[in-house]
Amino acid sequence: MKNIVVVGSQWGDEGKGKIVDWLSEQADVVIRFQGGHNAGHTLVIDGKTYKLRLLPSGIVRKDKISIIGNGVVVDPWALLEEIKEIKDKGIDVTVDNFIISESANLILPFHKEMDEIREDSAGKSKIGTTRRGIGPAYEDKVGRRSIRLMDLRSEINLDKRLESVLLHHNAIRKGLGKKLFQREQLKKDLLKIAPELLKFSQPVWMKIDQFKKQNKKILFEGAQGILLDVDHGTYPFVTSSNTVASNAATGTGCGPDSINYVLGITKAYTTRVGEGPFPTELNDEIGELLGTKGKEFGTVTSRKRRCGWFDGVLVRQTIKVSGINSIALTKLDVLDELEEIKMCVEYELNGKRIDYLPASVEDQLKIKPVFKSFKGWKKSTNGIKNIDELPQEAKDYIYAIEDFVGTKISSVSTSPERDDTILIENPFEI
Ligand code: GDP
Ligand code: IMO
Ligand code: MG
Repeated sequence: MKNIVVVGSQWGDEGKGKIVDWLSEQADVVIRFQGGHNAGHTLVIDGKTYKLRLLPSGIVRKDKISIIGNGVVVDPWALLEEIKEIKDKGIDVTVDNFIISESANLILPFHKEMDEIREDSAGKSKIGTTRRGIGPAYEDKVGRRSIRLMDLRSEINLDKRLESVLLHHNAIRKGLGKKLFQREQLKKDLLKIAPELLKFSQPVWMKIDQFKKQNKKILFEGAQGILLDVDHGTYPFVTSSNTVASNAATGTGCGPDSINYVLGITKAYTTRVGEGPFPTELNDEIGELLGTKGKEFGTVTSRKRRCGWFDGVLVRQTIKVSGINSIALTKLDVLDELEEIKMCVEYELNGKRIDYLPASVEDQLKIKPVFKSFKGWKKSTNGIKNIDELPQEAKDYIYAIEDFVGTKISSVSTSPERDDTILIENPFEI
């Protein structure tokens, strides 16, 4: 048996969707374990584009089982909309190929409103969230007042749960001078869609146990990136879940021994959406070029992504905190036109050299990157599927990354298309 966790090793949007889709040919089950519809995972298959937010990327392949684990926060209306969208594209979503954990916590309209209220009133210290209600929903989960999918099974129970969560939200709303949230209409709306959702609900831990006995291969699909992890990221400019690989066990209901391998998806440069420190950010024409050539616009919010050079110090660190076994390097082709390519290998803080990202945001904003320079290859690598066909300078850059971060690069992606990927070492066969 081989179960692989796929995580983003930077600030998200590394190309996790493409790689999970590519790898899922060899898997039986694909499971999301954290995050919500703040994620936007793009798949391009024979020219056709799919943008997935909550549905696992395995959904597009026939005969694969796709699961939303207990660690995911689910906006029920967003999920139903996404199911409709993908069905309209000819993909089946049925009780035979799709399961949601009955313990998944719901994102409700007052969570989204709270996210917006906070962001709008935060001024310069706003996080730049996706405004999907992710943070407030996770807060209610750990505050033990959340509504979970299973709560939609009984009206009496739902009523009690709503009373408890609205007591909290309405106290804050009152304090902020906002309209109080009425529970009756929300209860009606939830009960109306309950059957559509509950038909997919199951105890996921039990399913995973069965899959293990049947020797099925599981791909755990991470969302966001390690630098957005609530413990290990650039706090407070992070998301509200643990994005590290070890959360795949907690977020689905299996032990850490069910994780055999961690694949870190890593962009050949760096991007970030929203606010927060970004040591190698480029506010110049090279940054613009990366953004344009890499089509760096948010899948979820259409916001322009900030772009910069590859930060080796950061990736070396996220490899450690997430236990990454190898890297899938993506978007190499975006660098094709550049004369010179840079990689950050150290920082300078208060006149001293340091080789890690300091923990405090004040220091993270102060550090200056120290770069190593590489010669650009100035040839197209778009669509290359064989390592031998890459220009020597591109190989030099790849091997330099491998050497610096101390971890094997097991594949290199050269276009958004599923099959435009160079396989160096198959994670399922290691
Ligand atoms: P995710 O959130 O990690 O799944 O990544 P996104 O889908 O949000 O963003 C990655 C973007 O890069 C998408 O538009 C992909 O289609 C695209 N992409 C993925 N791999 C490659 C690649 O190797 N080359 C190019 N040019 N684009 C890629
Ligand atoms: P995928 O899975 C990139 C960022 C937001 C913001 C911060 C907090 O597509 O890689 P949140 O709405 O989660 O409270 O926002 O996290 N963010 C992402 N950035 N990719 C994502 O997902 C992201 N999900 C959240 O921009 O800075
Ligand atoms: Mg994305």
